[in-house]
Formats: sequence, C-alpha cells, structure tokens
Amino acid sequence: MIWIFLGAPGAGKGTQAERLQGDFGFVQISTGELLREAMRAGTELGKTVQGYVTRGELVPDDLVAAVLQERLAQGNTGNGVILDGFPRTVRQAEILEEILQKHCWQLCGVLYLEASEEVVQERLGGRRNCPQCGANYHVVTMPPKVDGRCDRCGAELVIRPDDTPDAIRNRLEVYHRQTEPLVAFYQQRGVLERVDASGDVDEVYRSVKEAVSRRWRQCLADG
Ligand code: AP5
Repeated sequence: MIWIFLGAPGAGKGTQAERLQGDFGFVQISTGELLREAMRAGTELGKTVQGYVTRGELVPDDLVAAVLQERLAQGNTGNGVILDGFPRTVRQAEILEEILQKHCWQLCGVLYLEASEEVVQERLGGRRNCPQCGANYHVVTMPPKVDGRCDRCGAELVIRPDDTPDAIRNRLEVYHRQTEPLVAFYQQRGVLERVDASGDVDEVYRSVKEAVSRRWRQCLADG
C-alpha cells in the first residue's frame, strides 16, 4: 500500500510521516532526504542535484523518479510506504502510476496537509536539521533536549541550505506553480484527504491518523 504526503514546504509532511511510520508500521521514503544524503556523501548524484536543492528548485522529474525507484527496489517497505515529497509535478504523478501498475501496488490515500503561507514560513524559519541522521527540530515548537545537538545522534544541528529566506520564497513559488495542481489530480481520482495542518504537532497528528484509518478501511473494502 502506498500513501502520499502532499503539502507546501514546511507544512509538516516529514514530521507527521515519521510519527505515522512508528504507529502503523509504515516506511517513510522522503525524496528530499534521499537527495540530501547523496549531497552529504558527495556522490555524483549529490553533485548533480546540489544546485537545484540549494536554490529551492525541483530536481528534474526523470532523475528524482530514478532515485525513488532505486530506493523502492531495495525492499524494506513494511506495512506500506509513505511517499514524503513525491510526486511534486503532474509528470511525476504519471510516472508513479506506471510504477504502481508494474508492481501491482495500490495507492491507498493522498494526505494533503494544508497550512497558511504565514505558518509554513514561521516553521521553516525556525527549523534545525541534523546533518548526520536527518532528524528535524524547531527552535520553538520542537527544540532538542540539549541546545543545538541532535537527540538521536548528538551531532551539531544546522540550518538546511534551502531554509534561507530567498530559497524559502522560491520553494513556495515553485510549490504553487508545479505541485499544487496535484490536489485536483488526486481529487479527481477520489483518493485525496484534506488535513488541517495549522495546529500543533499532536493536533495535526490526530487528524492524520483519522484520515489514514478512514482511507485504510476504504482501501481494504476496495480490495
Ligand atoms: P523536501 O525535503 O521534500 O522539502 P519540502 O517539501 O520543501 O518539505 P520540508 O522538508 O521543507 O517540509 P515538511 O513539510 O516536511 O515539514 P517538516 O515536517 O520538516 O525537498 C527538498 C528539496 O529536494 C526540494 O526543494 C527539491 O529541490 C528536492 N526534491 C525533493 N523531492 C523532489 C521531487 N519529488 N521532485 C523534484 N525535486 C525534489 O516541518 C518543518 C518545521 O516545522 C520543522 O522544524 C518542524 O519541527 C516544525 N513543525 C512541523 N509540524 C509542526 C506543527 N504542527 N507545529 C509546529 N511546528 C511544526
């Protein structure tokens, strides 16, 4: 079973997907994190995508789809996969449909996390990221236990290179132009669940769990 988390940068896709995987046995696959891992490791892929990611532009469709397919081919997909940040264009959504058909996988639901521009800007502005394990924090809403250090691995937290004011502006603009059309795309297919993502992490998570449970029942009924 495949789940998609859709929403603006900073809507909380990564935060909610991480919680959900613990409770439901799903596996979160974040294309952004796969690209950042490649950048950290200095691989050819990492060097190719660095400029796009840092400027807040989308990596070309075929390239990011190949990265996703490589990850899916490794297995370890638990009770289902949460795609966090893929697809981001209509072309990517079409590629995903081909992948699902080929493997006889079912798209169970698309959770659309909705939050205002003001809310997402505040979240991205305060985010701190672990360069070693990828964990995310927020200086106000989700601070680490020890100031500036990752709870999981102890590494020094950093500001993501695409969390600068210019890159944030660009990412939001790119999101409205290239990703938002997916809302209508998935609404037409009857799999879209709107989730109000403006509350605190626990409030949003309650709504996410309700939406997942509803869609899951529907999915099982559809076979
Ligand atoms: P990616 O890593 O996917 O970034 P994004 O979509 O911009 O999403 P973010 O990670 O910024 O936000 P989020 O919604 O996950 O929020 P989070 O939970 O972290 O992609 C990065 C780049 O990679 C792209 O710009 C592109 O270049 C490339 N890329 C990736 N996928 C691609 C694709 N498919 N095609 C092409 N290019 C691709 O939360 C944000 C902050 O808010 C955190 O600090 C968190 O602690 C806090 N927070 C979260 N929820 C709450 C809450 N409810 N209340 C208070 N604080 C909260």
